[in-house]
Amino acid sequence: MKNPLIMRGSPLLFLLLAGVCVAGYRPVIIVHGIFDGPKQFEKLRNFICKVHPGTEVTVIDLYNNLASMKPMWKQVQGFREAIGPIMRRAPDGIHLLCFSQGGLICRALLSTTPNHNVNTFISLSSPIAGQFGAWRDNFLRLKKLVLIGGPDDGVITPWQSSLFGFFDCNENVVEMRNQEFYKNDTFGLKTLDTRGKVSVCVQSGVKHVTWHSNYTVFMNCIEKWLT
Ligand SMILES: *[C@@H]1O[C@H](CO)[C@@H](O)[C@H](O)[C@H]1NC(C)=O
Ligand SMILES: *[C@@H]1O[C@H](CO)[C@@H](O)[C@H](O)[C@H]1NC(C)=O
Repeated sequence: MKNPLIMRGSPLLFLLLAGVCVAGYRPVIIVHGIFDGPKQFEKLRNFICKVHPGTEVTVIDLYNNLASMKPMWKQVQGFREAIGPIMRRAPDGIHLLCFSQGGLICRALLSTTPNHNVNTFISLSSPIAGQFGAWRDNFLRLKKLVLIGGPDDGVITPWQSSLFGFFDCNENVVEMRNQEFYKNDTFGLKTLDTRGKVSVCVQSGVKHVTWHSNYTVFMNCIEKWLT
């Protein structure tokens, strides 16, 4: 306690500096799906602003609607350029919430951005099982992986692929923890899960296009991670 004035003063200074751009919540970046765009995510943005006022929510306004059919690598490049500056402005990291095809774009983004500062990756009804590259190190930078899906989705097949499950050769669904890539820890999923960093949220009664506008889903599966 050599200098109580500074000891007392510095937290205040810190708050003042931090208060300029954040209100206590990390910025949320939303990556839309196929044939949609920012317009379809207004409800979700309102949900977030209602429960976490002051959150900076950005729905990336790129490759909307028909343009969402453009080649994936091109889209990934575009989204990277849009997301980069937001990441750099966020010393405590960001949350990435990706819907449907957006989940694949986010996965590609993560796997090719070694110094990303994504705190929580929320995959909302996204066919996230499928091919995967060498993204182990980047994957393990995540503080939280949240997988959301459900049996009444109607578009994601099998619906369990939104939770890293997939068909085996006999078209039986094999759940995440029995998948070879999990057991082998091929890209770090098992490590992340063992650390208690993987959260799975299954909701029934939700059709694919309504995931992001359903307040119950938001409160049950998303809200608590957006801090
Ligand atoms: C898992 O490990 C086994 C044995 O090392 C190997 O044969 C198999 O190809 C691996 N599978 C994956 C998905 O990495
Ligand atoms: C919203 O989600 C809940 C489950 O979280 C589901 O029971 C309900 O049917 C959904 N509502 C609509 C309109 O999709």
